[in-house]
Amino acid sequence: MRFKAFAPGRVNLIGEHTDYTGGLVFPMAIDLGTTIVGERTDGEFDLDSEQEPERFLLSRSPSMLAEIEPRWGRYLAAVAQELPETVGFRGTVSSTVPPGSGLSSSAALCVATAMALGAGEVHDAIGIAELAQRAERAATGVPCGLMDQLASAAGVEGHGLMIDCHAKTVAPIPIPAEARILVVHSGEHRQLEGSEYATRAAQCSAAEAQIGPLRTAALSDLSGLEDPVLVARAHHVISENARVRAFADALTAGDLTTAGELMSASHASLRDQFEVSTDRLNQVVAYAESQPGVFGARLTGAGFGGCVVVLCAPGSTPVMPGCEHWEVVASAGAQCIELG
Ligand code: GLA
Repeated sequence: MRFKAFAPGRVNLIGEHTDYTGGLVFPMAIDLGTTIVGERTDGEFDLDSEQEPERFLLSRSPSMLAEIEPRWGRYLAAVAQELPETVGFRGTVSSTVPPGSGLSSSAALCVATAMALGAGEVHDAIGIAELAQRAERAATGVPCGLMDQLASAAGVEGHGLMIDCHAKTVAPIPIPAEARILVVHSGEHRQLEGSEYATRAAQCSAAEAQIGPLRTAALSDLSGLEDPVLVARAHHVISENARVRAFADALTAGDLTTAGELMSASHASLRDQFEVSTDRLNQVVAYAESQPGVFGARLTGAGFGGCVVVLCAPGSTPVMPGCEHWEVVASAGAQCIELG
């Protein structure tokens, strides 16, 4: 029996660096993703990739993830470790998500692998996302949150997803028909391994140790923090959660002007308080914001490079000259079909 599994990447519209504190995020699954085609085996892996030169071969004897080559195979091996030893796969992997762009190519790979291995037959979208998150953490050592995997697993066509990362609830909210969503690549490739992502997560934990969970904190609680760096980090998270709520309300009301203003405010907070933007990302955002028909723009994903997401009206092309870009639409979540 042959199977075809597909898992989308995601663009996060708003709610950045909030997921690992149990906060609110608002991503949508996109029409770029990872496809795995082939047949299940009794435990071995034999996959080639349309994007990577080296084939991934693995027998299911215990092996250290960090020693597995090629490196892309570590994600698959980490997902396999979450599942019974009797599952493996032989076939081909291909992806349309540009790697290092902040559009969750690795989450799409992990979720597609889980689906190819049949995890969708025993787990719901949250279960799939959680096992893919554990796998990604194990494969990379990066303490990522749940947003990317859950957006990929639970995407709904035509809808953004308001996700409460503490309650683990997903509320699909329609994207208004007159909204156009562009993703613009800054040209800076980013990788979370070795970035300051883990430092930011640790700073949020340090703030929480002093003033309690940031997801329920108010800006007035910041007076309980002395370290100005922790104040800035916590300020971002607390204000970002409020922006996600306001953004969901604005989209529901079809108020793209307010939605765009919230996105631009999110970018300013990521730049000034959370300090995960770069000069280049700021330029791409400022360029977009100066163009007609643009409601708002912000870096999307972890930052440190990668992409900017722009909310604009049809007919507007607010792309800084020379930047690769994609118009994306909200897509359905991961699936696996039998090819017979
Ligand atoms: C990366 C992580 C997510 C999230 C974002 C920042 O994409 O994988 O869990 O923390 O960064 O919002």
